[in-house]
Formats: sequence, structure tokens, C-alpha cells
Amino acid sequence: MLRTVVLSVTGNPLVRGLFGSRGPVRSLALRFVAGETLEDALRVVDEVRSSGRLVTVDHLGENVTTPAEARSAATDYVKVLERAPQSEGLNVAVKLTQLGLDLAPDLALDNTGAVVAAAAKLGATVTVDMESSGYVTAILDIVRRLHVSHPSVGVALQASLHRSGKDLEELIEAGVPVRLCKGAYREPSHVAYPRKSQVDANYAGMLEMLLATPGGYPMVATHDPALVARAKRIVAATGRPRDSFEFQMLYGVRPDLQTALARQGYRMRVYVPYGSEWYPYLTRRMAERPANLVFFLSHLRARSGRS
Ligand code: FDA
Repeated sequence: MLRTVVLSVTGNPLVRGLFGSRGPVRSLALRFVAGETLEDALRVVDEVRSSGRLVTVDHLGENVTTPAEARSAATDYVKVLERAPQSEGLNVAVKLTQLGLDLAPDLALDNTGAVVAAAAKLGATVTVDMESSGYVTAILDIVRRLHVSHPSVGVALQASLHRSGKDLEELIEAGVPVRLCKGAYREPSHVAYPRKSQVDANYAGMLEMLLATPGGYPMVATHDPALVARAKRIVAATGRPRDSFEFQMLYGVRPDLQTALARQGYRMRVYVPYGSEWYPYLTRRMAERPANLVFFLSHLRARSGRS
């Protein structure tokens, strides 16, 4: 409920316009985003790696409106891969609406294919983010097509959606690496579980399926300590090797838990976003945590009072 309200308030163009890309809300963004430039991202990549954690880089952007923007996003990703020191082991996260999915599925397929090919050449991997529910079928279709020639291409699934259990079964069967997350988008109740407890329960069930099925390379993306503990128990009970799956968390969220897991010998990957298009990403982080929302609203009030 709170998530729905936050996402609809912050998604309002008037609210967005109040902030632009400056002001105190930018400092909140910088808690979750490496910065606006590739240099900012590479600095954080170094920092994270120096503490024994792995990295995913996300060049922020979504729902581009021209083929030129989509191509330029693909080129930017290739630059990230080429500029990152030790691309081997690096993962990049892409959004297919940033690579042209709203314009034409084939455009998104071609652009994503270019990023995937560049990554493969450098020993890096690509995981496709999952976006709002209307895109799931198209995203999974493109991932399956890319998977034929590049088996390391993975995709995120959201435990919040009713359909995801079945999608997970099919992706495990096809050998596609899955990043399991709860889901960050505002969705109607006919496609998604309305209550957090239901999402958590569905996550737990999907986690069991993902980790207990031998083989594959599951990516457990959550900061929820109960689910992290559950994942550890499944791994211990099934004897899944520690290098055959990884935990993933977002930059700026639960760094204490991240470093603790890395110290315990688990593979721990940090999702590091960068770029000037941080606003939609920030609104999703705010919707996840009331304390972030309070910060946002207090600055919204101060700012509207001034103007
Ligand atoms: P939950 O929301 O229950 O939070 C558990 C605890 O984590 C909280 O109590 C708090 O301590 C901490 N926490 C969580 N979010 C926080 C925040 N924003 N600020 C501060 N603390 C916070 N979603 C999606 O729809 N498509 C995708 O492709 C991805 N990709 C993705 C990759 C990775 C690596 C991660 C970790 C997450 C995603 N997500 C995502 C986001 C995901 O769906 C979900 O919205 C967030 O991870 C929050 O859910 P948790 O599992 O952390 O649980």
C-alpha cells in the first residue's frame, strides 16, 4: 500500500520537476548511486572489489524514446566493459526499455546482443533487469533468444508476480541463470501479490526451487536477513557448492551484511548504478523504506514552501 502511494507521488511529473537533478534529494540519490559519470562508477567498483565483493554495474536509464538513444545506451555499456579494469568476473545489468524495447523488440534484441557479445569477449557477464509486469513476456523472450548463443546471460524474476513461479520453472529447465528479487514496481493485484507477507512467502518458495535444484548459477538478490538465512540453510542442507551461487545486494543498502557474507566466504555481488538518470531508480529505493520517504517528503515540503 505504502509502496503504491510512494511510487505514484514520486512518479508525478510535477513532483519530479520540483527536484530536477539538483537539491538535497540528490544527496539521498548519492547514497544509492555511485555518481553521474563512468569515472564515479569505476571508483566505486574499485572500492567494492577491494573488500572482497563482486560487482554488477548498471548504467541508469529506462524507457528511451528514440532508436538513437537506445543505440547510445548500448555503446555506453560497451565502454563500461572496455574501461573497467579486470572486466573478467564483472557483470553488467541492462534494462531492455533502455535498449529500445518500447520501440521494437528486434532493436532491443540487437542492442542487447551487442552488449552481450562485448561482455563475452572480455570474460564478463550480462544480467537483464526485470521491469514492470507488462514487459515480462517480451523480456523473457529476448533473454531466451540470447541464451542460445550466450549461456551466461541471466535475467531477474520478481517474487511479487503471480506468474513468476512458473517462469522460474521454465528458466531452470532451460538453464538460464536467474536473479531472484522481490520486485520494485507498482502493480495491480491481478498480476502481483498485494501484501508484503505474500511476496516474502513466494520468495521463500522460489528460493527453495532455485537453490535446491542442482546445477545452474542462482543469484539471490535480497537484503532480507530471514531470506539470507534461509538461503544459507538450503545450501548447507543440499550441499550446493559456495561458488555455484551468489548473494546480491544494492549499493548503499546493508553494507554491513554485504561485508559479513563476503567474510564468511560467500560470493557477494554489489549492484552499482551510475548515471544522470537516477530519479526513477531513487523512487523505487524510497518506496522500499519509509525512512527514505520521510527524508524525501521533508525536503519536498521545504522546497514547496520556498517556491
Ligand atoms: P525488503 O524490502 O523486505 O527489505 C529487507 C531489509 O533490507 C529492510 O528491512 C531494510 O533493512 C533493507 N532495505 C531494503 N530496501 C532498502 C532501501 N531501499 N533502503 C534502505 N534499506 C533497505 N527489482 C526489480 O523489480 N527488478 C530487478 O531487476 C531488480 N534487480 C535487483 C538487483 C539486486 C542486486 C537487488 C538487491 C534488488 C533488485 N531489485 C529489482 C529490487 C528488489 O526487487 C527489491 O525491491 C529490493 O531488493 C528490496 O527488497 P528486499 O529483498 O531487500 O526486502
